[in-house]
Amino acid sequence: MGGYYLWSSSAFDSKSGQLILVALLVMIASFYTGTLFGTNSSLYNSISHLPSNSSSSPPPSPGTLSLSPSPSLDLYRALIVNCIPTFTNRVGLSYRRIPLTIPDTGMDICPLVFNEYIPCHNVTYVNELLPKLDLSRREELERHCPPLERRLFCLVPPPEDYKIPIRWPTSRDYVWRSNVNHTRLAKVKGGQNWVHEKDKLWWFPGGGTHFKHGASEYIERLGKMITNENGDLRSAGVFQILDVGCGVASFSAYLLPLNIQTMSFAPIDSHENQIQFALERGIAAMISSLATKQLPYPSSSFEMVHCSRCRVDWHKNEVCIKEKDDDYNSTDGILLKEVNRLLRSNGYFVYSAPPAYKQEKDFPLIWDKLTNLTSTMCWKLISRKVQTAIWIKPENQSCLLHNVEQKLINICDSVDDSNLSWNTPLRDCITLSKAQSHSHNLPPRPQRLSEYSRTLSSVGINQEKFISDTLYWQDQVRHYWRLMNTNETEVRNVMDMNAFCGGFAVALSTWPVWVMNIVPKSMNNTLSAIYNRGLIGAFHDWCEPFSTYPRSYDLLHANHLFSHYKNREEGCLLEDIMLEMDRIIRPQGTIIIRDEESIISRIRALAPKFLWDVESHLLENEQKTTEPVLICRKKFWAIL
Ligand SMILES: *[C@@H]1O[C@H](CO)[C@@H](O)[C@H](O)[C@H]1NC(C)=O
Ligand SMILES: *[C@@H]1O[C@H](CO)[C@@H](O)[C@H](O)[C@H]1NC(C)=O
Ligand SMILES: *[C@@H]1O[C@H](CO)[C@@H](O)[C@H](O)[C@H]1NC(C)=O
Ligand SMILES: *[C@@H]1O[C@H](CO)[C@@H](O)[C@H](O)[C@H]1NC(C)=O
Ligand SMILES: *[C@@H]1O[C@H](CO)[C@@H](O)[C@H](O)[C@H]1NC(C)=O
Ligand SMILES: *[C@@H]1O[C@H](CO)[C@@H](O)[C@H](O)[C@H]1NC(C)=O
Ligand SMILES: *[C@@H]1O[C@H](CO)[C@@H](O)[C@H](O)[C@H]1NC(C)=O
Ligand SMILES: *[C@@H]1O[C@H](CO)[C@@H](O)[C@H](O)[C@H]1NC(C)=O
Ligand SMILES: *[C@@H]1O[C@H](CO)[C@@H](O)[C@H](O)[C@H]1NC(C)=O
Repeated sequence: MGGYYLWSSSAFDSKSGQLILVALLVMIASFYTGTLFGTNSSLYNSISHLPSNSSSSPPPSPGTLSLSPSPSLDLYRALIVNCIPTFTNRVGLSYRRIPLTIPDTGMDICPLVFNEYIPCHNVTYVNELLPKLDLSRREELERHCPPLERRLFCLVPPPEDYKIPIRWPTSRDYVWRSNVNHTRLAKVKGGQNWVHEKDKLWWFPGGGTHFKHGASEYIERLGKMITNENGDLRSAGVFQILDVGCGVASFSAYLLPLNIQTMSFAPIDSHENQIQFALERGIAAMISSLATKQLPYPSSSFEMVHCSRCRVDWHKNEVCIKEKDDDYNSTDGILLKEVNRLLRSNGYFVYSAPPAYKQEKDFPLIWDKLTNLTSTMCWKLISRKVQTAIWIKPENQSCLLHNVEQKLINICDSVDDSNLSWNTPLRDCITLSKAQSHSHNLPPRPQRLSEYSRTLSSVGINQEKFISDTLYWQDQVRHYWRLMNTNETEVRNVMDMNAFCGGFAVALSTWPVWVMNIVPKSMNNTLSAIYNRGLIGAFHDWCEPFSTYPRSYDLLHANHLFSHYKNREEGCLLEDIMLEMDRIIRPQGTIIIRDEESIISRIRALAPKFLWDVESHLLENEQKTTEPVLICRKKFWAIL
């Protein structure tokens, strides 16, 4: 089989396997799982999990050694057995206590069943809340974080037979089955070519519900629809897209050749684990849903919002009657108003769903409602073909002003621009864009990366500071690659946990990685400026876990994040944030932390308890004084 796959010689060469082994001599056990590609090896630290009533063996002692019965272990056995002492961590279900305590034996390891633990998307917990939720607005699909004492406080283990993910670009098409061992999606969506089973792999042919024959053809068709058959999406000025209900994110994957950046999201619903598949493939995505709250992205950030059978009822979702303004009766379409918020002017809303083309059932009625809503917002239907309708949000606001006068639509009270879209209820109104929205002046990528947004000046960042920040991160990223000692091909999914102006992501833009730029909710809104640079990201509050699966990222960057959260309430103590980092980083992934000395030494002391290897370095900060930098690496361990 090996010869058939182009990547078999490079992606899993035995030499790098050996190197990893040497670097990780403290490993207790390793196994050799390679059969498919011959030489891929996965290395584990093992934590045995003995049944508590086991009578044949002595009572379970913490960290008992258990070697896998793999025959090819012999070579390493002697070495490994000689350096047993590493672990004392215990497997056990532990919850976050107040005040927080970390066992002397190290962080507990959650039992294996929690290998896909996402604290704020626990279906069982949400079911408890159901009586209080507005189901007509699908509130149950949104984030619901349990109170602190009901959060797990243990390290999330990988599933059985987890393997270091297949690397980009191969991962676009193939991922390890055992890493996302869920068959439902393949069963339900195999016919639409979302994903198929192939031995030990999942194969993604690049299809989707509305692009069974591959996303490329579909993307080309959209480009033609917008440009009167002459051009592609790029020539239509589309560089940043929001994909609503993205499935396994094939749309995003096939936009990359056009250098179009896509933020993809989907809820956790019956299409099990779609986001997990997307992330495992190395495609930018997060869990989110459009229901009662604004999406955690800034206004005017996308040139296209895309919905291909995204299972959002755009024509429904009324705001609660009591919130209704007597003066004004149209309460429907609040979700489309959120799309309007996110779109740049001259941006497109692409809708590929049955109401756009089917004449049966209630589809024509839905279409009628939809077009009534879009016309009150003054969107213009520019094309309706095959199975897709496309509207444009025009720049000229005279129509909008007219509809406001007619009381067909509400204008939002001018809200302080500094408010971040985080836990903000949806608003049943339209914001008029500023005198001259400069969106259409944005240059294409890659020039867009150096775009300075004037909004930055209102938060005290002038152009000079912006440029020096950009240059600074170019320099730092060079240092990082040197210090990380990681093969560049091993890094694909990256998160900058405190992204400021996005300088770190810009510096990485020449590598084949994508960066999720996070702007904490307690910071100023620099995310709009990050989007204006052609990058993607989200608002987040690190007092809560992030909406993603465990083992999502290869690299986390935390620049002065911990000091920003210093002296905050329970829930975002240093240990809480470390635990969340451990959850979302992949085994053998790298975490770069820069901060003040006291924080760095605390993390360095705690790292072994989290099963992280850690190295300290010194680098210059922007003030040209040296500051400590930690390069942490999550060990690859597993419960055997
Ligand atoms: C990184 O990995 C690739 C593919 O495995 C390999 O071809 C390349 O030589 C490696 N580079 C370094 C610096 O080890
Ligand atoms: C206890 O041990 C018995 C015999 O080994 C086994 O059948 C049973 O499933 C175990 N119970 C638990 C809870 O592990
Ligand atoms: C999910 O919620 C249920 C009900 O609150 C709880 O019993 C369970 O432990 C939670 N699961 C996780 C993984 O937190
Ligand atoms: C997937 O999980 C099932 C049990 O749920 C197991 O039998 C199977 O071996 C797993 N497959 C892989 C590829 O890990
Ligand atoms: C809203 O509806 C009420 C009764 O349903 C009607 O009297 C009123 O004129 C309507 N207002 C507008 C602005 O259409
Ligand atoms: C759409 O608007 C037209 C004209 O204002 C109206 O006659 C029609 O009933 C509306 N359709 C729906 C479904 O609201
Ligand atoms: C906007 O549209 C109105 C009506 O179509 C037109 O009179 C006006 O000149 C337009 N404004 C601009 C700036 O193009
Ligand atoms: C904006 O933020 C302030 C302070 O957090 C808050 O009081 C206000 O209600 C917010 N406004 C909106 C419209 O969300
Ligand atoms: C936000 O911007 C204001 C105004 O420039 C500035 O004074 C403040 O320090 C900034 N806050 C943060 C957290 O950077």
